[in-house]
Parts: sequence; structure tokens; C-alpha cells
Amino acid sequence: MNITIVGTGYVGLVTGTTLAELGNTVYCVDIDAKKVERMKKGIVPIYEPGLEEIFLRNIQAQRLFFTTDLKEALEKSEVIYLALPTPPGEDGSADLSYVISVANQIGDLITDYKVIVNKSTVPVGTAEIVRKTIAAKTDVPFDVVSNPEFLREGFAIDDSMNPARVIVGSESEKAQEIMAKIYQPFTNIGIPIIFMDEKSSELTKYAANSFLAVKITFMNEIANYCEKVGADVDKVRLGMGSDDRIGHRFLFPGIGYGGSCFPKDVKALIRSGKQEGFDFQILEATEEVNQAQKTILISEIEQYFKGDLKGKKIALWGLAFKANTDDMREASSLDNIKILLEKGASITAFDTIAEENARQILGDQISYAKDMYSALEDADCLLIATEWSEFKNPNFELMAEKMKTKAIFDGRNMFALEQVEDKGFFYKSIGRKTLN
Ligand code: UDX
Repeated sequence: MNITIVGTGYVGLVTGTTLAELGNTVYCVDIDAKKVERMKKGIVPIYEPGLEEIFLRNIQAQRLFFTTDLKEALEKSEVIYLALPTPPGEDGSADLSYVISVANQIGDLITDYKVIVNKSTVPVGTAEIVRKTIAAKTDVPFDVVSNPEFLREGFAIDDSMNPARVIVGSESEKAQEIMAKIYQPFTNIGIPIIFMDEKSSELTKYAANSFLAVKITFMNEIANYCEKVGADVDKVRLGMGSDDRIGHRFLFPGIGYGGSCFPKDVKALIRSGKQEGFDFQILEATEEVNQAQKTILISEIEQYFKGDLKGKKIALWGLAFKANTDDMREASSLDNIKILLEKGASITAFDTIAEENARQILGDQISYAKDMYSALEDADCLLIATEWSEFKNPNFELMAEKMKTKAIFDGRNMFALEQVEDKGFFYKSIGRKTLN
């Protein structure tokens, strides 16, 4: 099938590349001419494990093309995916101006039947807005389908090639048949397509992400409570997760969730609710608890240094909002850095791959180390903000040699307590007993 993807951000690029990998011919359209030129040359604009290989393979196989010319791409395609940014506006609601602007252009340009697929996370009712916007411009027949994306950064290729399910929101039989054809390679291997009306489909995305944000936040509160009563959250997590109604995943406590999806989607759902006069009380609490959780270790660090952080040299392992990505959006590291700097500490950070993106936000407010151990040189303590694999089993002797004070504040519970126990460190993690 010939497919156009409008928008080559994270979702658009991964969707376009994987649809090409499934044998379709894909035209990726973006207004950023420089980016399009770079992609034509085989330069992948984002970091995502495994993406570059299939990106290059499909360019070579002439199944993946990049252009700024929407008209030309539309002429060649029957299906048009919209993967456009929907940034949060001032009030937290999703800003649909990119989506509406492209819908207007599609209305002006189409000359035969098209299926317009909404891939971006958009509030309930957006498919209807897109339909009305296009219909105001043309009499050419078309359908609008909601087909939300559930991929995780760092696992996007696997999530796209092997999704838990595909959700298709459309009541048009013709559009359903076309979507079923695109996703035939998935149904062939037993991955379900769940057809539903477009509004339920739009809400499914928000509901799923918000539920996961609540799940993490619930666990963070349980972890905080564990500390109060002397329980161990690792044990509680195992005990809870073994009930398959709960499951083991997304039960890991830490310094809060971040990234481009959870914070934005939780806010947007709260906001959409308000517009209908509906209060998502559980989500409001989740936001508030998560915000506090992000910097929960600051008071511990302060207490350790008897309230005075002035001149303290803090080593920071991890800047990205989670491991396996260079994405800094809503990263907990940023909240911690801001407060620590305000309190007069200095910071030397190491991140496996996010340094460049962090520099764009933080500039030289902090120092950047070339590896995890040099970040520790002369440090008064270590704060861990991202769960990079390379931090999991460090050389504690070398750490002790480098650090001025042997104190670790671990926001990602990187180590089992036994790993640190006899190494002579003060070790504070989340929801477990403090070693000193
Ligand atoms: C998420 C959803 O998983 C994905 O389905 C959706 O399409 C986009 O949003 P992503 O933002 O890439 O994906 O990251 P994810 O792996 O879900 O982690 C989100 C945040 O939660 C991270 O900050 C992570 O550190 C945190 N997290 C995750 C926890 O604190 N504990 C956990 O147990 C899991």
C-alpha cells in the first residue's frame, strides 16, 4: 500500500519506517526542509535503538521517501497518517493547531478517496474536528480514523513491530477494511486489532497512559510509606506483582515519571474533563504526588549535609527522563538540578547519551563528565536520576576512591541492598531501608 506520513517527529518517523519495513511504500512529509534533506541522506534525526538499521534498509529498498511536498505525497497515497505535534497549551489542553492546519491543506489538495489516520495523541473529538475541517473544503469522499500509538521511547521499534494490540477507531467499513489490510502482518501473527468508534479509540490512548502514570505514582506512595513503617518496597512490589490482575510491570518506584507522554497526557485528560464539567480527581492527585516525588531526595540530601548545600559538589548519574533515550523532556534530573543549584551546590553530570540535549537546556550551569567514574571526582555525594544499565553493577571500590564522601542518593533503586551493604557507603534509595 502507498502511505503518506505527515510529521517526522518521533512517532511519525518510527511509524513511517516500520510501515515501510512491513512492505508498504511510505512518503514522509515534513515542513522542515533541512531535516528532510538530512533524512534523504540517511541521517536519522532522533536516537532510538534499532531505528537506523531499518531506516537505511528501507531507503535503500526505495520504500521510504522524504519530501516537503504534501501535494505530491497525497497524490501517490490512499492512506495519510497524521503524526503531528500536539503540545500542551498554557492551560494543559492539547494544542491542535498543527493538526487543523494540515487538515485544511488536505481538504484543499485531495482529488480522490483517502483515509486520514490520526496517530498523534489527541483529545476526544479531534477526529470529528479533522473531518469537519476537511469536509468544509472538499466534496471528495474520505474517512477519518483514530489509530493511537502506544510505543515507548527506547523500545519503539519493538513496540511498533510487535504491539500488544492495534486500536482502530472508525465506523466506516471501507476505512476499517483498509486499516485491516495495513495491519494484516500483525493479525497474521496473532496480534489483535480492536475496532471501535473513534471517540472510544481516542480516549483509550489517554486512559491507558494515565492509568500507567497512576500505577507508578501509587507505587511511589507505597514506597514512601514503606520508609515510614520500615517495610521494603522491593518485597511489596514482588508480592503485589505476582497477582496477574496487577502484574509486575510499571511497579518500579523512583523519582517520578517524566517524558513526552505521561505528564502531557495526564494534564490533557484533566483539562478535557474540566471542559465537560468533570473532575478527574485521581489524576489531579497523581500529578501533584508525581511533582513532589521528582525531588523527594533533595530533603534527604539536605538532611545528610545538615541543611547546608553551599559549595557541595554533587555527582549526578543520568540526565535523560529514563534509560535508553536521549530525551530530556520533563526529566526528573532537571527539577533536582534546579533546586540543588539554587541551594548553592555544584553539579557534575554524566549521562550515557543525553549530554547533548541536556547542554541545550542547561548550558554550562553544570559540568559534564566524560564517563560515570570521572563524574565522581572529589564529589560530596552521588545522585542517581536515570536507570542506565551501565550504572547497575559499578565498581564500588573505584567509586569510594574517587568520592570525597561515600554517600549515594539513588532515585532509581539501581542496586540491591546486598550489593552496597558492606561497601561502606551511606545509601539512600526509594522505599527501602537506608544503609549507613
Ligand atoms: C509511555 C508509554 O509507555 C507508551 O505506551 C506511550 O505511547 C508513551 O508514553 P515513554 O514515555 O516512552 O512511553 O516511557 P515509559 O517507559 O512508559 O516510562 C515513562 C516514565 O515512567 C519514565 O519517566 C520512567 O522512568 C517512569 N517509570 C516507568 C517509573 O518510574 N516506574 C516504572 O515502573 C515504569
